[in-house]
Amino acid sequence: MTTPHSDSPGTAPALDLDNAPDQIVAATTLDGLEKLRVGLFGRHGLVTAQLKQLGGLSPEQRKQQGDRINRLKAQLQQQLAARKTELETAELDQRLATERIDVTLPGRNHAIGGVHPLTRTLERIVDIFSRFGYDVVEGPEIEDDWHNFEALNFPPDHPARAMHDTFYFPDGRMLRTHTSPVQIRAMAGRQPPIRLIAPGKVYRSDSDQTHSPMFHQVEGLVVGEGITMADLKGTLTAFLRGFFERDFQMRFKPTYFPFVEPGADVVIAWQLPDGSSRWLEVLGCGMVHPKVLANCGIDPERYTGFAFGMGLDRLAMLRYGVNDLRAFFENDVRFLQQFN
Ligand code: FA5
Ligand code: MG
Repeated sequence: MTTPHSDSPGTAPALDLDNAPDQIVAATTLDGLEKLRVGLFGRHGLVTAQLKQLGGLSPEQRKQQGDRINRLKAQLQQQLAARKTELETAELDQRLATERIDVTLPGRNHAIGGVHPLTRTLERIVDIFSRFGYDVVEGPEIEDDWHNFEALNFPPDHPARAMHDTFYFPDGRMLRTHTSPVQIRAMAGRQPPIRLIAPGKVYRSDSDQTHSPMFHQVEGLVVGEGITMADLKGTLTAFLRGFFERDFQMRFKPTYFPFVEPGADVVIAWQLPDGSSRWLEVLGCGMVHPKVLANCGIDPERYTGFAFGMGLDRLAMLRYGVNDLRAFFENDVRFLQQFN
């Protein structure tokens, strides 16, 4: 019993019950084999059709034909199953050959970020001053003239304002040029004893090897009864020893800031790659000017205080031996990875 042939060139001969075993063996894909299975055993399959015809036969014929069809069915099912196993094995072999994994290769590394050297430096500074008993406070980066200059004893048109290369907003406010305005905010709200540091970003129109237009300062302020210049020198010397953990040369150099009297810069010997060294200013400091205390409602007859403003980026340069401060802000991963 056969189905009509479709002899169109290039296609496999139409499936019939005589050529079915050959077609099963010739199937080269699991998809092709599945089509043959459906062609034989599907709802409209050739074997299914034969089974359906049995109903119209006499009991004798039905038994005879039934036996024959059942044998054929069992044989074809067994062939389909065998070919399926072969094709599946071939497919697996093919995948094993092409998708080879060399388990001896080193694993692919995930890039793990690190703490930025400036953040590390800040954490170190906060850690040391916390052990000295200092509070940590913050202030706004956009300031008004009173907090950034006037209350700090910079009179209007005073030449010291020009040293700050200020970025102004059209309304007269500015990006703070130092962290000293946080002194004013801290003192305006409370009475001594005061002992705090105030870290943060500051801005000046300034850029070279040791200057960046955005940099970081850590302000320090101590106000109480009987605070002297000796307390200032002792505190800063103890801090810098703890910070560097190595020998270094330092100097206190008298200098002028309108908000302290007397005032000083601390300079530290900076080793350059060519073996020479030069003095690098790392902080300004001094005894809080009586006018500043009075501006904040603190009685200068009763209380004295000291203050300092450290260049955090400069301290990081010295501690890590970095020769250009701007490298901290370029975020070149090759540079940053050295600190992990
Ligand atoms: C001040 O800003 C004072 N407010 C510091 C101060 C506070 C003095 C309290 C007395 C009492 P000065 O402009 O020198 O001072 O800056 C302080 C430090 O910031 C400098 O010593 C230097 O280490 C750092 N610094 C200044 N300008 C830059 C810059 N453009 N880039 C990086 N660091 C800078
Ligand atoms: Mg200075």
